[in-house]
Amino acid sequence: MITRMLSAQNSEDIALAAQWIREGKLVAIPTETVYGLAANGLDEQAVLRIFQAKGRPQDNPLILHIAQPQELRKLCKDIPASAWLLADNFWPGPLTMVLPAREIIPKSTTAGLDTVAVRCPKTAATRALIAMAGVPLAAPSANRSGKPSTTTAQHVLSDMDGRITAILDGGACEVGVESTIVDLTGDIPRLLRPGGVTPEELIALLGELQIDPAVLAPVAADAVVRAPGMKYRHYAPAAPLIIVTGSAQAAAFYIRAHFQRGDAVLCFEEELPLYQNCNPTSYGSCAAAQSLSSGLFAALRALDRPDIGTIYARCPEGGGMAYAVGNRLKKAAGFHIVNAEDAR
Ligand code: TXA
Ligand code: MG
Repeated sequence: MITRMLSAQNSEDIALAAQWIREGKLVAIPTETVYGLAANGLDEQAVLRIFQAKGRPQDNPLILHIAQPQELRKLCKDIPASAWLLADNFWPGPLTMVLPAREIIPKSTTAGLDTVAVRCPKTAATRALIAMAGVPLAAPSANRSGKPSTTTAQHVLSDMDGRITAILDGGACEVGVESTIVDLTGDIPRLLRPGGVTPEELIALLGELQIDPAVLAPVAADAVVRAPGMKYRHYAPAAPLIIVTGSAQAAAFYIRAHFQRGDAVLCFEEELPLYQNCNPTSYGSCAAAQSLSSGLFAALRALDRPDIGTIYARCPEGGGMAYAVGNRLKKAAGFHIVNAEDAR
């Protein structure tokens, strides 16, 4: 199969992508978070092709993407007031809600769960595509399973060339990490995955929010978790990644002492001068967590090379966007974290 590159700027290309979706084909789509690998989310066979193309375990359900917030009604039942409150404030945008699923949704999309994850993405070309296709799009992140998510059309091509019909190129993704996922099926809203809508924003609106344990700590492979995707080693380059916390000076002291030829450092722009002989890559500024979030996956992909031994990474701390960036990096590290202050 030859994978065609289409432009999100071109309305004929969007119409062609919509037609291919209706025919049951796979098209990668730009969103404000990361690229998605989309198919008709109501077509069992088309959805199964997504799992094949990604090499994704079939117990991991997909997010349905809609063009307009009101379309939530067609896909979900027993929708609580909190869902409409979130939709009014954050849709279109980087927020996914888990709600009870209607029967029209195939089991391949929900991985057999009786709930479904739904999101209305911000990217206008993608919402136009969904509206033209006339069906919700099931779309996981458009990376090979286990690899960092894709934030440019070139990333998608390098993972999916020959495996999918087309890629709609919408440029680099602004948020850079996947959407925030909130489960609204219990008594208290529960954060399953942090993202572009921050915990602080959710708490301000909802009053209370439980943080799912999978956000903060490693999950055993056989554990039953609310978001099945959270149990896999994710976002990870081939080499082992170790997060080094502590002050800039203490971390640099620790990393320089342990660094061996072939290792690499993933750090904040401000700290580049501390790692001159340590093959450093910056992923953004520690003074602007948004820059770290939009740069993280491109940096992890650049470091996904067989010749790299160990990657030492600096990780932002605290809330806001730093919370989501920290979550992805800790997962990439398999929660291997060293405090350089203790190691002194
Ligand atoms: O930003 C995003 O969310 C991107 C773009 C393309 O929209 N999509 C994305 O999809 O990150 P994916 O498949 O890589 O991650 C979806 C996550 C997985 O961890 C999955 O287990 C969880 O959502 N999920 C899906 N349906 C669920 C459900 N019914 N209940 C709980 N978790 C669910
Ligand atoms: Mg993913």
